Amino acid sequence: MKIKAVAGDIAGHKCEALIVNLFEGVKKPGGATGAVDSALGGAISKLIARGEFSGRKGETAALPGGGKLAAGRVIVVGLGKKEKFDAEAARAAAAAGMVRARSMKVRGVGAALTGAGSGGLDPETAACSFAEGAILGLYKFDKYKTKDAKDKTSEVGISELAIVTNDAAAARAAGKGIKLGEILANAANAARDLVNEPPNVLNPAELASRARAMARKRGLKTTVFGKKDIERMKMGALLAVNQGSVNPPAFIVIEYKGDPKSKKTAAFVGKGITFDSGGLSLKPPNSMEDMKSDMSGAAAAIEAMDAISQLAPKINITAIIPATENMPDGGAVRVGDIVRAMNGRAIEILNTDAEGRLILADAICYAVSKGMSPIVDLATLTGACVVALGSVRAGLFSTDDKLAAKVEAAAELAGERVWRMPTDDDYKEFIKSDIADIKNVGNRYAGATTGSLFLEYFTDGTPWAHLDIAGTAYMDKKTGYYVKGGTGTGVRTLVRLALDMARG
Ligand code: BES
Ligand code: MN
Ligand code: ZN
Repeated sequence: MKIKAVAGDIAGHKCEALIVNLFEGVKKPGGATGAVDSALGGAISKLIARGEFSGRKGETAALPGGGKLAAGRVIVVGLGKKEKFDAEAARAAAAAGMVRARSMKVRGVGAALTGAGSGGLDPETAACSFAEGAILGLYKFDKYKTKDAKDKTSEVGISELAIVTNDAAAARAAGKGIKLGEILANAANAARDLVNEPPNVLNPAELASRARAMARKRGLKTTVFGKKDIERMKMGALLAVNQGSVNPPAFIVIEYKGDPKSKKTAAFVGKGITFDSGGLSLKPPNSMEDMKSDMSGAAAAIEAMDAISQLAPKINITAIIPATENMPDGGAVRVGDIVRAMNGRAIEILNTDAEGRLILADAICYAVSKGMSPIVDLATLTGACVVALGSVRAGLFSTDDKLAAKVEAAAELAGERVWRMPTDDDYKEFIKSDIADIKNVGNRYAGATTGSLFLEYFTDGTPWAHLDIAGTAYMDKKTGYYVKGGTGTGVRTLVRLALDMARG
């Protein structure tokens, strides 16, 4: 889909379908929607008066165009309450309008700039949000469906979207916003593709080869360490998780050097469990169903690098991905085994299903050994975080308030909401081992925090933040601009964070 910004009169904009918008409770539309309403002889006002359209968030209505309107059809999308409107609401509205347009089998869509003007967004932000919402909302993963089983609504795809602004200055700003929105949303969709691939296809080797393909395209250096290298580096925790699987592990390192003169490098670490059966602490069938998504942190870190390299901020960032399956064969790690992480610390494994923290321990040790700082990790780490925050917000854990504030701000900008969770020293008591340095599970309380503090143990004081995305990485139904399946969450937060860190 090609997206461009144009300047001109909205009623005179020629396209197959024109998307306009309306706040909840508005009786007489103004602005661009008002102009379209007038050209249609008050058809939108009539819909509202008859109670057929209220402007609720996500609501859409379609009307025939023609007459004084150059567009063939009109789609009105609800923006929800004006007081609650923001860039995130603009993304959701764009998704709703575009999905409705796709169902009408049109190729060329025009859209009034959502939120610029009465919505309070500047044209650049408004256009960025619209482009992001459009691309994210139209996402589909149907490569495994045979042609006749594919959803018919995607047969005709939208190939062009023109965002219509008032004047040339607004169109220029919108053009900039569109570029950023496209880069962000395409990277997030690429992460969704990785998550949605079935685990028989996307094993650690395949994840590595896809990361390599992305990096090659962007001119980034990639190193994939295989099992022998991982043994040589003494990553005993990653090896322990891998030992019950017939597929070897991979340790993927992707380097972006936007500030080659600086020695400082930030680490983005992503949990890359390509399938989590639980190991010998086997998961029940229901809990195992979506466990191909246990590499969502890895997908986010990898695809964030794709966007970052295109945006070229002045900063060095290395993505670090420990990748393995968690499987329970005869060679599998036992409950009670003690293994050593790369830094020599002894870990007592009392639940093989708490495997994410094990592989991340070695990845964090690696980052620390290379002097990287800060370390930001993303992981579908705990069911406890899902219990606490559901699928609305990810858990943010950090012992560094400044870094936490930066991550929080980046996440908010991205529309990937987070909530800061506690990391008090008092919780560390629960992961003390009687016979090793640390154990990989606490009791049944504060599980998301004890999981995060296990990671913190390996940071050696390096500024660190952890996002537990267990609840936000995978949706079981369509929500806003998310479709069922992988959400690509974390990509846009990491990119916004990188841009912010480059500013100092
Ligand atoms: N991958 C899971 C966490 C998860 C749960 C992700 C639900 C997405 C949705 C993780 O490896 C896990 O199994 N965690 C255990 C930890 C426990 C054994 C301490 C959990 O949360 O039950
Ligand atoms: Mn697990
Ligand atoms: Zn897991």
